[in-house]
Amino acid sequence: MFAAPAGASPTRPRRRPARGRFLATALAVLSVTASLTLTAESTAVAATADGHGAPGARGLGDPYFPLAGNGGYTTRHYDLDLAYDPLTRRLDATEAVTARATQRLSTFDLDLSGLTVRGVRVNGRTARWTRDGQELAITPAKPLGKGQGFRVDLSYGGVPEDVTDPDGSADGWISTDDGAFVAGEPQGAMSWFAADNHPLDKASYTFEITVPAGYTAVANGVLASQRTRAGKTTFHWRQSQPMASYLATATVGKFDVQRYTTASGIPVYNAVDPREAADAAPALARIPAILDWESDLFGPYPFSAAGAIVDHAPDVGYALETQTRPIYDRAPGVGTVVHEMAHQWFGDSVSLTSWQDIWLNEGFATYAEWLWEEQHGGKTAQASFDGYYARPATNSLWAFPPADPGEGANIFASPVYTRGAMTLQELRTAVGDTDFFTILKTWARSHRYGSGTTAQFIALSERVSRKDLGALFHTWLYTAGKPARP
Ligand code: ARG
Ligand code: ZN
Repeated sequence: MFAAPAGASPTRPRRRPARGRFLATALAVLSVTASLTLTAESTAVAATADGHGAPGARGLGDPYFPLAGNGGYTTRHYDLDLAYDPLTRRLDATEAVTARATQRLSTFDLDLSGLTVRGVRVNGRTARWTRDGQELAITPAKPLGKGQGFRVDLSYGGVPEDVTDPDGSADGWISTDDGAFVAGEPQGAMSWFAADNHPLDKASYTFEITVPAGYTAVANGVLASQRTRAGKTTFHWRQSQPMASYLATATVGKFDVQRYTTASGIPVYNAVDPREAADAAPALARIPAILDWESDLFGPYPFSAAGAIVDHAPDVGYALETQTRPIYDRAPGVGTVVHEMAHQWFGDSVSLTSWQDIWLNEGFATYAEWLWEEQHGGKTAQASFDGYYARPATNSLWAFPPADPGEGANIFASPVYTRGAMTLQELRTAVGDTDFFTILKTWARSHRYGSGTTAQFIALSERVSRKDLGALFHTWLYTAGKPARP
């Protein structure tokens, strides 16, 4: 659930003119995906001409965040060993990234913003490195062969600085009065670890986080161990299923911890700032019910742990679906918990291929809230749709179409969330409940632990329903202005 931060401008006018026919739009969507691999491939061609290989691309080619991610390799696993002192706000880290080269590589980049790098090794040998903005360029002693697995060891430290997003909000390592609120969408992961920082490249993670005794460090997945020695506590977390870098967290604070296992066998770990505990209790108590309800609707829960981090960080202005364990900047209501937990299927397990497709995350999670209300004695999803549809054409809800937000500054604005959810309600009306819920489940199952595109979602909807839905999606996802009365 997104609360607009100061400086956000969800009404920002579109910079690009509306696109024409649906086919053109679908092709444009496909070409975005194609360009993500093209960037890397064009350097691969250069590599054959040069026996030392070529540099990997500085970014994955995402039009909204051109430097996010890198070319020439894919990551397998991040092992993060962090020590944080909430009083000095200093972070000291060693990191090991396991990856595989997708081209012959003379040099490759990781994304890291701020902090001081102390040393880098590739496959155990000292590597040269240079920094330019968020690009940490690493030159291994020996070029990496195409297809070669490799390991990067890094050591770095300093006081992390959060990242300012195009919409003016902050993400990344955001220090609080008792630790740090750590949430990286869309770019902030690079403020605390060196990453291939784009959701297309997912990996497993392990975390070893050391904090002064009395503080709790909460990351993703399962808590493997916790031990206190000489006034310091080390928390060891393991996230085995693939995760996009923006969904990683290593939140630190003085938290009350609740642990239990649901009747369906999922271990729950909640960390709650005592200042928010009373207000958060009713929504947190619903976590097992929400897990069961969403598993019924969307298919089996994709992860082996669940929970919540409820921090007291009122300046942040949003919650984030950090994998397995969403983070809230204050006590959430049930709707927000339903939203962030729905992202575990839509956004976390099935990830974006391009940030332009953000409605695949936010439209779906918002629609989950509408479904929750509908099935728990509230208004129907159609009534939610009707309420929003009543807004005049001048309302910011109609400022741009959800699948073409035009730029990074718009990815968390209301057309993405609300009109994205309205698109799903229109789909449901067109295909009927049986096919609609089959589409949602099939989407979650067939792209589980991977990525999807809007074009693939449209194709799936047409396949399941055996209907031509081109006009519907063209109107709701890609056409500027308020759609005509359905
Ligand atoms: N995905 C989050 C949510 O809806 C919103 C994150 C907003 N992030 C930001 N940097 N403004 O649930
Ligand atoms: Zn969301």
